[in-house]
Amino acid sequence: MHADSWAIKAKQLGLRSRAVFKLEEILQKTKVLKKGSNIVLDIGSAPGGWSELIKSLSPQAQIFAIDLLEMEPIEEVNFFQEDIANINSIDEIFLLKNKFDLVISDLAPNLSGIRAVDEENIFELNLLTLETASSYLKKDQGYFIMKTFQNSSLKKLRLTMEKSFQLVQTYKPAASKSKSGEIYLYGAKPL
Ligand SMILES: C[S@@+](CC[C@H](N)C(=O)[O-])C[C@H]1O[C@@H](n2cnc3c(N)ncnc32)[C@H](O)[C@@H]1O
Repeated sequence: MHADSWAIKAKQLGLRSRAVFKLEEILQKTKVLKKGSNIVLDIGSAPGGWSELIKSLSPQAQIFAIDLLEMEPIEEVNFFQEDIANINSIDEIFLLKNKFDLVISDLAPNLSGIRAVDEENIFELNLLTLETASSYLKKDQGYFIMKTFQNSSLKKLRLTMEKSFQLVQTYKPAASKSKSGEIYLYGAKPL
């Protein structure tokens, strides 16, 4: 299917974003959502496609979502408009340190168009997200899905991730535009 067809399909289905299809494919392959309750942190959540998908697949999930931008409310999703860099200041989330089952991040920084600057910004944001996931996920079992890009820092990022996750895999979902260079890293704990 052509990349733009995913956007049309998302609109027809009344979904908030075509990003939903990317997470859906990764979840189908990794089977990380368990039956019953899952505590999930959705980083870079707006407009809310991923949170909505998790809610539909795992109705009992406790979902905490964070984004710089506003997000239209989703029933039973706890949304905080905040920079990920300030996540520790959100008491409701901070109280759940080491209690999350799954952390998902579709974060994308604003691009300047200057390649070296953009690569550095993406790397820094990915490192911050990785650090956040490591401290919020359960120590004994937890899963992490993070968007990144194929660039010169990818190997370094993956090696850093391998220090905290036993299994690290790369996914390029069908709904992800091939030209974008976007890919998703998946990590499973324990180490
Ligand atoms: C591709 S969108 C996420 C789409 C979402 N997964 C969905 O399915 O609707 C990326 C989001 O990352 C957010 N973002 C970028 N930098 C951020 C930061 N430092 N802290 C929080 N959110 C950030 C943007 O505001 C944007 O809404």
